[in-house]
Amino acid sequence: MNREDFAMLEKNDIIYFDNGATTLKPRVLGETISDYYNHYSANAHRGDYDISLKVDAMYENARELVKDFINAEKTKEISFTAGSTDSLNRIIFGYCKQYLQKGDEVLITKSEHASNVLPWFELATQIGIVIKYIPLTEGLQVTMENVKQSITEKTKVISLAHITNVVGDIRPIKEITKYAHEKDIVVIVDGAQSVPHMPVDVQDLDIDFLAFSAHKMCGPTGLGVLYGKEKWLEQTVPLFFGGGMNASFEPEGTRVYHDIPTRFEAGTPNIAGVIGFGSIISYLDKIGMPLIHQKELELCKYAKEKLKEIENIKIYNEESTSGIIAFNIEGIFSQDLAVYLNKYNICVRAGNHCAKILKGEMGIKNTCRMSFYFYNTKEEIDKVIDVLKNPHIKEEII
Ligand code: ALA
Repeated sequence: MNREDFAMLEKNDIIYFDNGATTLKPRVLGETISDYYNHYSANAHRGDYDISLKVDAMYENARELVKDFINAEKTKEISFTAGSTDSLNRIIFGYCKQYLQKGDEVLITKSEHASNVLPWFELATQIGIVIKYIPLTEGLQVTMENVKQSITEKTKVISLAHITNVVGDIRPIKEITKYAHEKDIVVIVDGAQSVPHMPVDVQDLDIDFLAFSAHKMCGPTGLGVLYGKEKWLEQTVPLFFGGGMNASFEPEGTRVYHDIPTRFEAGTPNIAGVIGFGSIISYLDKIGMPLIHQKELELCKYAKEKLKEIENIKIYNEESTSGIIAFNIEGIFSQDLAVYLNKYNICVRAGNHCAKILKGEMGIKNTCRMSFYFYNTKEEIDKVIDVLKNPHIKEEII
């Protein structure tokens, strides 16, 4: 689907199955960014001349597009950051640090990405919160039953990936927020692996905070989104202070900051990235997120069936319903397998995928991961299966 939009797929000499790490970029991204740099590369929110006003309009249009893409209620609930990691740190240190007290409990899981673990470890060291892990099922899933069992009177925050980057399970966010909100628990969602791959409606899911990255959805690197309900963002302190975010300041230290979201965007922002991202949101909208999701599920189902034909293969996430497959071939170190696949121009990721505390649950430290996007095909999967079926695979690796 839409392969012709991607210069990197033009020659058909690469099979790119590492979309969980970052996706390929359609030409429209480069064109939009180069148009900005070549034709109207002024600063944003600072000029009174035409090209600067054009930048303002394009920048704010991108915010509007993002708002509609995730169905936020208000445009001011969207701020641009450097990526999911940046967004999560801003939520955890900008909001949670003010709101949480010593002994308060935060629920995460052992399959979270480092960016939804390490900031919590730091906060625990700083203010004495207690981090607890929601137990995972044998299939490494989060169930409502396990969430309910993990909640105590001290639970104040649940912070979860919507889809995990290692095993690709989709968490029941809507049920979790419903139950959590009855107990005044704030729900933070890491949407890095979900927003690019399926429709995500923050109002329907009733998410309090959402973080995601542009580069995992055909957009530019170094750009992300922080969504928060207005009532929480009003209580969130910025982590960066400087130009653009203040209305005034005086020598004795009095200062007035702008309203949200400007308050969270100190300094000259990633203007080219934001404008480029706007073109990507329109691009994805045109294809349709339900169709993208459906295509990936088809690919994943097909790949899992085919992979089972391979001797000594272990798939770690049979039950998961996203476009991510984690596997190993017995007797082959995952990174060696990735290097072997590279010989055939096949790109997969191997390792612990930044989820370093999942190893106990999985019984293994490292896996190979295939992660699909809408431009992948069944023919590509067939080629990879052929390469994996090579009877001399071990000799080639050694
Ligand atoms: N978090 C990214 C991944 O899963 C980099 O590969």
